[in-house]
Amino acid sequence: MSEDTPVKGEVLYEGKAKILYATSDPGLVIQYFKDDATAFNAKKTGTIEAKGIINNAFSTKIFRHLEENGVKTHLVKKLSDREQLVRKVTILPVEVVARNRVAGSLARKMGIKEGTEISHPILEFYYKDDALDDPMINADYVTAFGFGTREEIDIIMAEARKINVLLTAFFRKAGIELVDFKLEFGRINDEIVLADEISPDSCRLWDVKTGEKLDKDRFRFDLGRVEESYREVLDRVTEI
Ligand code: TMP
Repeated sequence: MSEDTPVKGEVLYEGKAKILYATSDPGLVIQYFKDDATAFNAKKTGTIEAKGIINNAFSTKIFRHLEENGVKTHLVKKLSDREQLVRKVTILPVEVVARNRVAGSLARKMGIKEGTEISHPILEFYYKDDALDDPMINADYVTAFGFGTREEIDIIMAEARKINVLLTAFFRKAGIELVDFKLEFGRINDEIVLADEISPDSCRLWDVKTGEKLDKDRFRFDLGRVEESYREVLDRVTEI
């Protein structure tokens, strides 16, 4: 590691797919990507070989692309196969989902066939709580329960819409349709930045030509070729 890389400290938090470590710099943490996979709020568990390595590389590439296009993120730099140095943020307990086509829970909720087109993107909020199955909430819940301010919601929604435009174009160059994805934002002092990860775990990615699913739905629904699909999307975006 280079001289400006702080020393790795104790585990601050272990989540389903990542571990956060403290560092010798109080403003920075190390985000470690595991191979563990869960679905349906951890009701299904397993591992996807080398997923941590793939998601780290994938997410680093995406976050850099977003930074280059004016999106503020927590990423400082990729440290190793499975580790990123990131700014320490307070994660808002709100998952932001952007959708460009009907799939997943939207198809189930509305009784509309997966793959159906929608006339404009949809943004949704979910309260991050596995025990409650991440219930869908709205902006009033965010402010009423003190998860964030109205100003923060406005920033998050504007950033999510901008990220959707940037990433839709980015993936299209790789022959991939960005069907939907989940974002998490964090707060540093009064600043809101994009945090967590963007990977085949948190996106629906369909091959533009064949419609083949190249994301975590392969694990969720036992579609086979899980590792191969993760590797394939990484290879395709690496070439962009
Ligand atoms: P959904 O259709 O199951 O609501 O998922 C929408 C998108 O959000 C999909 O790309 C997968 C992603 N997602 C997560 O990253 N984490 C989650 O906990 C859930 C439910 C969805």
